[in-house]
Amino acid sequence: MTAVHHDSAARLWMLSTPGSSYVVRLDDEGRLRHLHWGARLTPEQAAALPHLLDVATNFDGELAEEYPGEGGARFGVPALRLRYADGTRTTQWDHTGHTVDGGLLTLAFRERLSPLELRLHYRVHDDCEAVERWAELHHGGGADDTVRVQQLAAARWTLPLLPDYRISHLTGGWSAENQLARAPLARAETVLTSRRGITGHQANPWVALDAGDAGEEHGEVWGSALAWSGSWRITVERTVHGLVAATHGAGHEGPEVLLRGGGSWRTPVSVGLYSAGGFGGASRAWHAYVRAHVLPRPDELRPVLYNSWEATGFDVDEQGQRDLARRAAALGVELFVMDDGWFGARKDDSAGLGDWTPAPDRFPDGLAPLAAEVRRLGMRFGLWVEPEMVNPDSDLYRAHPDWVLNETGRPRTELRNQLVLDFARPEVAAWAHDRLDRLVRDHGVDHLKWDMNRVLTEAGRPGDPDADRLWHDHVRAVYTVMDELRADHPGLRIEACSGGGGRTDLGILARTDQVWTSDNTDALDRIAIQHGYGQTYPPGTMGAWVTDSPNPLTGRALPLEFRFHLAMTGALGIGGDLTEWSEDELARAAGLVERYKRIRPVVQRGRLYRLADAVQYVHEDEVVVVAWRLARRHGAPVVPLRLAGLEPRGRYRDLDTGEVHHGAVLTSRGLTTGLTRDHTSLLLHLRRDS
Ligand code: DGJ
Repeated sequence: MTAVHHDSAARLWMLSTPGSSYVVRLDDEGRLRHLHWGARLTPEQAAALPHLLDVATNFDGELAEEYPGEGGARFGVPALRLRYADGTRTTQWDHTGHTVDGGLLTLAFRERLSPLELRLHYRVHDDCEAVERWAELHHGGGADDTVRVQQLAAARWTLPLLPDYRISHLTGGWSAENQLARAPLARAETVLTSRRGITGHQANPWVALDAGDAGEEHGEVWGSALAWSGSWRITVERTVHGLVAATHGAGHEGPEVLLRGGGSWRTPVSVGLYSAGGFGGASRAWHAYVRAHVLPRPDELRPVLYNSWEATGFDVDEQGQRDLARRAAALGVELFVMDDGWFGARKDDSAGLGDWTPAPDRFPDGLAPLAAEVRRLGMRFGLWVEPEMVNPDSDLYRAHPDWVLNETGRPRTELRNQLVLDFARPEVAAWAHDRLDRLVRDHGVDHLKWDMNRVLTEAGRPGDPDADRLWHDHVRAVYTVMDELRADHPGLRIEACSGGGGRTDLGILARTDQVWTSDNTDALDRIAIQHGYGQTYPPGTMGAWVTDSPNPLTGRALPLEFRFHLAMTGALGIGGDLTEWSEDELARAAGLVERYKRIRPVVQRGRLYRLADAVQYVHEDEVVVVAWRLARRHGAPVVPLRLAGLEPRGRYRDLDTGEVHHGAVLTSRGLTTGLTRDHTSLLLHLRRDS
């Protein structure tokens, strides 16, 4: 069966992935109704699907419309909200046609009384479970004809009618990103959102819904995520009639976009993913999708990096960086990244942002000598930048005070002593592109850590009545600059960062190679942060550093092996002050880096299984397990660790000890970890012999 099936008699369309189907149909009145998202169906079965809901009373109307607008007896969350110049809001959409191009289906509609055209796009791939959706609104009127778009959702994901529902989502804050929350779904509208202009630390544009009966490895899970790095909103509604739907859109309530005749507005992509394999199965399906269809360089193994931030803070100079680079290289580090503090008058966070030239007092001969030294040591060279920002105390601000977001006469809120550049202005984006391009070209920079350390406030542009658009255009301009840099410098890799993990989403992952997961590098706190990250995003993109003990943020002391093992579950980095590490620590660290390089293909490319106080990766015939023990009362039983995803009849050889384990024994009886002490950990690397 082809990926997109159209039944013209039934006026029905079905998209199929290897394990699921998604079905919509036009009803007798020409309204597009959602019919099914879940187990895979045949065309015959799809044609037999009844409507999901048909509620029409004086007080209520619920039809499970695929993309509801306003007007008529519609009272749920609209996918489309707009306001015509005369103040009216009602839209009526007539289906005008459809196109199919491989796995891409486009449904076209025209508004009955106004020159608006709406296109709903759906795309499936034959190698993964994701359904990608986005919408496009075109104004076919004259240039003076305007309409205000208040909401143009990328998608509304409607779920089957089930007796109960539970919601899983990510919450948190700076240094505590991605905390997984799982709770009964209220019969209400649950809004997950960022109004900050960035993806945000407080919530992540991903949600998973299940009937309350899914487990890590069993049960149906409906997940959806928005590929967007600015403000966003996911509203999950659960009505008294049992309808459950998640509406995804870029932007938050308030700002609206002026659409003029001749103009179009296109949403980012929202991705839905159904899995019958529990939360673990859903995560593996997300990882497969991100690797196959999102990441720019999915096949590349992420290098072991060193980053100077926790070692030096802003106190950066050539000699100090050379010392760190020498020690990092001796550990086996492959990429040396100099963090904040190398440019302009930057000695703390009060000055210099925007002046992207090496600080003359600390790098008298520029960056070339350091870059050459890093290369001589056999490493690639990376630099920290924060291109969207400016300190008022900077040459850039003195030259272009009008380049910052602001509202006439209002105070400009400074956060971390910085203001946000109006990146959506072509001259600002062009300036940023030029500076970054020069940096990369002049110093052969291999890796940019692109940071963003504050949110948007007073997001205006005096004199521009359509300034709200900048909430969207800022993000698009960031994407464009990144895309252009990558196109012009094919060897360049980019790390996404926003005060830790404030910019973690599928949109940024389409043009970056890894994400700085959190400024919290305490290995114990990282367990929850990484657990949440891995729900959707693959381990190979999850930057994880080993830093000093006691941890500078939490003051907690943890063994070196424990810190390494937890960081080795993602893209390993080292961020400690190596000048303070003992010879013994450096030697053990070098051994662990070497070990990481051996397990790296399995961690970065493998299928992830989340176990009890452990994670496991399976890639081809290799298996890696990282297990840890948290603080427990004395005498608490130490139970074997049951592994997953193994061939029951397979024999698995421990590549360090040579011991042979049986697949069935490891999955049923479990592995004896020997972790009897708090904060101890274990790394196991197995290969299937037969
Ligand atoms: C926030 C980042 O998350 C840190 O890793 C570091 O790069 C600082 N910014 C530098 O200002």
